[in-house]
Amino acid sequence: MKSYDNVIIFDHPLIRHKIAILRDEKTSMKEVRELVEEITTLMTYECLKEGVPTTEIEVKTPLEVCKQQVVKDNSIAIVPILRAGLGMVNGIHVLFPSARVGHIGMYRDEETLEPHSYYCKLPDGIEDKLVLVVDPMLATGGSACDAINLLKERGCKHIKFMAIIGAPEGVSLVAEKHPDVNIYVSTLDRCLNKNGYILPGLGDAGDRLFGTK
Ligand code: PRP
Ligand code: URA
Repeated sequence: MKSYDNVIIFDHPLIRHKIAILRDEKTSMKEVRELVEEITTLMTYECLKEGVPTTEIEVKTPLEVCKQQVVKDNSIAIVPILRAGLGMVNGIHVLFPSARVGHIGMYRDEETLEPHSYYCKLPDGIEDKLVLVVDPMLATGGSACDAINLLKERGCKHIKFMAIIGAPEGVSLVAEKHPDVNIYVSTLDRCLNKNGYILPGLGDAGDRLFGTK
């Protein structure tokens, strides 16, 4: 894959370890949920290294008063792409319990692989927040591109996209269509199969998180 300034691929031994367990078809639904959350928390730490709105406060230690930087109140929103993105929300909420959550519902047509949007509910004032769009799988990139378009139409200017597993096809598409959006991917897989599934991937993320198959 070509390299893009707005694509960050994690290459961390701890994340690699957790993804190896996540991929295994024998890993239970409960473990899949826990792993998706844990990986998301690790990704969030890295993803928020830049671009987080901060403000200065005064803190009185037992010895003196000092000025400290803290994350600005009510400045971050999480937007999971339904369904599988829901599995990543708690992984960010453990770090930012007050982050507002918007929901974008998308499903892929199984034949054409085109995304279809069926739901959108976003928090008031989202246009002024740092928006973290989350979906464990970035395959053709259609769902991610459409979700980001929708947020831009609603006035969002600061968007980051986080996926656990990306296919080169999808990562390139989002990187090129949205050069202003940083794309964080835990691991870049080989390719898509003829049904649009990521190889080696982990199968259908929604089914594995929610036990629908
Ligand atoms: C999966 C996944 C992404 C999308 C990725 O959702 O969670 O949203 O596919 O594919 P793309 O990059 O080719 O658009 P799916 O459409 O299967 O819906 P679900 O989460 O409800 O199962
Ligand atoms: N969606 C999934 O859940 N898995 C894939 O491999 C591709 C799209």
